[in-house]
Amino acid sequence: MPTADLLIRAMSPTDLDAVVAVHQHAFKGFFLTRMGPAFLRGYYQTIIDFDGSIALVASPADDPSNIVGFAVGFHDPHRFYALFGQRRRRLLPSMALAALRDPGLIVQILRNVRRVGAQQEQLHPGVVELSSIGVAGPGGGVGGQLVEAFASVAAASGARQIMLTTDRDDNEAVRAFYERRGFTLDGFEDRGERWLCRYVRALGERPSGE
Ligand SMILES: CC(C)(COP(=O)(O)OP(=O)(O)OC[C@H]1O[C@@H](n2cnc3c(N)ncnc32)[C@H](O)[C@@H]1OP(=O)(O)O)[C@@H](O)C(=O)NCCC(=O)NCCS
Repeated sequence: MPTADLLIRAMSPTDLDAVVAVHQHAFKGFFLTRMGPAFLRGYYQTIIDFDGSIALVASPADDPSNIVGFAVGFHDPHRFYALFGQRRRRLLPSMALAALRDPGLIVQILRNVRRVGAQQEQLHPGVVELSSIGVAGPGGGVGGQLVEAFASVAAASGARQIMLTTDRDDNEAVRAFYERRGFTLDGFEDRGERWLCRYVRALGERPSGE
């Protein structure tokens, strides 16, 4: 698909099924995917409802319901995870089903419930977290355009920097993808079961006097 024909717009509730499908495809075997489509739907619904999120979808310009990628992130991840934690009760049936289907998930569910409930690290004002990007067909330029659209929306909403974390190990292609798009390595985070790289990208200078 020629990338010039891409339309990038805000995610809406009618996109949820398609976003879940792209997520399942892009993040095969990851924790959220293993939690199943109902849980994923609840997660993305919370992102849409949260007032501090940036949630974008990409589609062919002439076929806006055909979602081929998404990018989501938060001005204040701390507040987002507090909201998601409050909604956990609604997601209990899907969590129970996931645990029955895939008992290996139970340890990860407990670890994530503890992490969501714990005090999340607060970002500095002006920093936006790019939480995830996924595309249906890699290598077509959709991911790169989503990064740039995310940066534009973040800058327009007053952010000065984007930060993101991604796996440190066995993840060269994704790390190179971000590095070629202006992200620089800012440190490492130990998440117990895996190490993450933290990347940052500055978002242009703010006009003087601000
Ligand atoms: C990472 C990801 C979002 C990139 O999206 P994308 O649409 O493939 O990105 P682009 O096409 O703009 O860029 C991919 C780069 O890899 C190259 N590439 C070529 N073939 C490729 C392939 N089969 N798969 C991935 N990249 C390929 C592209 O040419 C491009 O090179 P460049 O950086 O020099 O421009 C996408 O691969 C994806 O969804 N991965 C799975 C989910 C994930 O890991 N997300 C990131 C962590 S949140």
